Amino acid sequence: MSRRFSTRPRFQHHENRRILSFASGSAQSHLHAMSQRTPYVAANWKMHKTIEETERFLADLLQRRWSRTRARDVGSEDSAASLLPRVGAKEGVEVVVCPPYPSLKTAVELCAQSRVRVAAQNMHEEESGAFTGEVSAPMLLELGVDAVVLGHSERRTHFCETDEALARKLPAALEAGLEPILCVGETEAERDADATEGVLLRQVTEDLTGVADPNLARVVIAYEPVWAIGTGRTASPEQAREAIELIRRTVAGRSADAAEEIRILYGGSVKPANAVELMAEPGIDGALVGGASLDPGDFSAIVEACG
Ligand code: 13P
Repeated sequence: MSRRFSTRPRFQHHENRRILSFASGSAQSHLHAMSQRTPYVAANWKMHKTIEETERFLADLLQRRWSRTRARDVGSEDSAASLLPRVGAKEGVEVVVCPPYPSLKTAVELCAQSRVRVAAQNMHEEESGAFTGEVSAPMLLELGVDAVVLGHSERRTHFCETDEALARKLPAALEAGLEPILCVGETEAERDADATEGVLLRQVTEDLTGVADPNLARVVIAYEPVWAIGTGRTASPEQAREAIELIRRTVAGRSADAAEEIRILYGGSVKPANAVELMAEPGIDGALVGGASLDPGDFSAIVEACG
């Protein structure tokens, strides 16, 4: 969809928030004339970083002194005024780190006095039971985790995550008080076969089936084309925008208000060098970052680009 169509939503940066407004109201008149969505940037570390590496990363990100023997004290030692100079002096960007399970507690403790929140990378939909190797939403909540990545393509591909399971996981996460970060995206073969629209429509529709309309905006969606993940091939800003517009229209089919409020991120080889261009696109509310999020300097630069 081209920007020349005046009824498309237009986003402008304003006080670090993206202001949604419409040049003319006709086709979009079901949406409010103005809305604000706070940019959102999440670091998906996948199966990277030990507890010690997590401590080092967060000490660097939060610009605090790091000491292995006093690691538990590091977070409380510095004043709130020194928080997060490297992840943006500007307010108004939500920053989330998603470490592997063993590092979650450490990350929660070290981020406690900062704006950075912590997410897990998966969870089971049941609260407890005979599910060896699985972790439930209440268990994550007990650790102080705020959010959870669900439906990442690596889980769909390598661990047989289905849309049916996601339709149960999303309401379970919300019920427990976790913010779900739902990942959707097409493979290269699906894009080549012109099936992108159908895949995104199916994933968004089916995965959100169990989420009641008033809760839809509590979900964060990440559009992650599988062919762009870990490949160094980034979707063009236009490809990302078109897919995200489709996802937002799909949510609008359930609730116009939710479509206006819900954050939709782009993920797939986001780097400091391409983040500014991607984030300038209307409707892209932030980034889900893999490889580049392993380096505190690169991740901080991406946070800056999103703010
Ligand atoms: P990369 O940024 O390494 O491509 O990974 C993206 C991703 O899968 C984030 O969830």
